[in-house]
Amino acid sequence: MSFLAKTFSQVIARAGTTTALLSKPRYPTSLTYRLASRQSSPQSDNKEQKKYEYLLVDIKGKNSNVALVQLNRPKALNALCDNKEQKKYEYLLVDIKGKNSNVALVQLNRPKALNALCDGLMRELSTVLQTIDKDDKIGCIVLTGSTRAFAAGADIREMQNNTLAQVVGAGFLDQWSAVAKIKKPIIAAVNGFALGGGCELSMMCDIIYAGEEAEFGQPEIILGTIPGAGGTQRLPRYVGKSKAMEMVLTGNRIKAKEAHQIGLVSAVYPANQLIDEAVKTAEKIASHSRIVVQLAKEAVNTAFETTLAEGNRFEKRIFHTTFGLDDRKEGMTAFVEKRKPNFTGQ
Ligand code: CAA
Repeated sequence: MSFLAKTFSQVIARAGTTTALLSKPRYPTSLTYRLASRQSSPQSDNKEQKKYEYLLVDIKGKNSNVALVQLNRPKALNALCDNKEQKKYEYLLVDIKGKNSNVALVQLNRPKALNALCDGLMRELSTVLQTIDKDDKIGCIVLTGSTRAFAAGADIREMQNNTLAQVVGAGFLDQWSAVAKIKKPIIAAVNGFALGGGCELSMMCDIIYAGEEAEFGQPEIILGTIPGAGGTQRLPRYVGKSKAMEMVLTGNRIKAKEAHQIGLVSAVYPANQLIDEAVKTAEKIASHSRIVVQLAKEAVNTAFETTLAEGNRFEKRIFHTTFGLDDRKEGMTAFVEKRKPNFTGQ
């Protein structure tokens, strides 16, 4: 997968001045980019074509100024976790957990840089999460890092020499929001540092569990910048204005215990038990109706984006909607018949 992401980036970079994403397909198998001018087209000649393991590249348009780059790896879902595939992730380890193999464990794996969230890592993470999101066998995701660091933020070395024009032009950090759009619940299991983008990444998840030694912070102010992946927006919603201001304006870090007290994390565990506890919760979530879990997640997230009256109206409609589902009938029937429900996701 990382090889795919890398190759894709290389192909786009070599295509020259990519200016607009034209089509956003339902499933990321085909992406079309319009080129302002065609500077070179080696991607599309036959010799070059053979070099790509996972892509088909062609030049289109009357003026040959559109590059069609097609992701070409139809069996990706099945192959997500097999050993051969595992080696292909550059920055992630992916495993399936739970008695019923219905929990995906995704581990950030860039130890030398404390899991700093470089562009390649975030692209790989988005792609893997989107793939898992479409896998019917998986009901919940656990996202974790190492014992030392969940993630120490966006990659400072990568950003150091960027100009305003470059970050605006490239839509720097735009692809990070893909994590917040995943429909399946994600539990962040945070050991060690969750700083800057690392703290923001954990807040994009649905539940945060922390190891006893975890530390959260938004230290961007120390670098002469501000949080850019939701820190100034999600943090005050989760912990209130005063604490969020204090963290964002001082760059001070808070420990797991305090993060728990202020409601940023919902539980703290000894570091070596953290992932097991997260997987246990994930298994419980995965045992419920997939479709109802998805709706419940959407309803709770709506609370952060709307007024109380609108939110209540939305919730009521979603509640009514569950009455169109077999799983709602099954859940209530199982209760009345004093047995366990057998959910089908319909
Ligand atoms: N980017 C790139 N590299 C990083 C990094 C980051 N965010 N954080 C740590 N690293 C690298 C260090 O450069 C170092 O690499 P070398 O060994 O090659 O020098 C390695 O990881 C280990 O780091 P330290 O030696 O600094 O380890 P430490 O234990 O002394 O300190 C730390 C740990 C407190 C986390 C410290 O590394 C630190 O302060 N990191 C930066 C945290 C930060 O400012 N994050 C915000 C980034 S900006 C952002 O995220 C914007 C946004 O909103 C998206």
